Amino acid sequence: MSEESAIPPSRWALAGEGTHGYGPRFAELVAGGEDVDGEARLVDAIAPRGARILDAGAGMGRVTAALRLRGHDVTGIEPDPSLVAQSEQTYPGIDLLPLDILETTPEVLSAHGRATAYELVVAVGNVFILLAEDTEQCALTMLRDLLAPGGRMLIGFHLSAGPAGSRSYPPEEFRRDVEAAGLVVDLHAGSYELHPTNAEYAVWLLSVAGSPRGAHSAGGA
Ligand SMILES: C[S@@+](CC[C@H](N)C(=O)[O-])C[C@H]1O[C@@H](n2cnc3c(N)ncnc32)[C@H](O)[C@@H]1O
Repeated sequence: MSEESAIPPSRWALAGEGTHGYGPRFAELVAGGEDVDGEARLVDAIAPRGARILDAGAGMGRVTAALRLRGHDVTGIEPDPSLVAQSEQTYPGIDLLPLDILETTPEVLSAHGRATAYELVVAVGNVFILLAEDTEQCALTMLRDLLAPGGRMLIGFHLSAGPAGSRSYPPEEFRRDVEAAGLVVDLHAGSYELHPTNAEYAVWLLSVAGSPRGAHSAGGA
């Protein structure tokens, strides 16, 4: 997306009131000591120690916060000002950047004093079924351009019964968009605990097409 072009409103923004429950609901769960770290645990398991991680569509900040607690260098971006405000209430000092994926270039991140390349880019909790219409491929390309060499992307969304305002994004269509963005699917699972694929939820691990694949890290048998 060029600097001149306006950023189209996301499905999330257009859903209006339908989205208002998310922030307070998660804030309440966090205040009640409930576990909201499922996505972050998977990210931590597949990330190098002390990884640079971009949490794209960070919402009220739960994934950013959970990953920082696990020692990672996390930048969270979130375009909804009410969620940025909510994140500061729940996690004082979390400092999410008020950015849309479609405007998040290395230059913009550098201007904010943040890393410009990431070992992991994370867009979980339905971000990809709440993007603006017809921007999915562009969002994948923008995020791909933020990956460090060998970097990977974790994306998760509902395949059925998604949140208010969300689209249906069948696996075949997502795979086509991934390929068009110069990425490949390394793994498709049905949950953040890596259950088999199913009709309800999809978790995708992506990497740049043609990049070197697979090596086990220290401690691997
Ligand atoms: C259901 S919330 C999930 C938030 C967070 N990832 C989580 O799991 O708690 C969906 C989020 O997608 C974000 N979103 C939608 N389109 C976006 C875009 N183009 N750029 C960045 N975030 C976007 C919304 O602002 C909202 O915060």
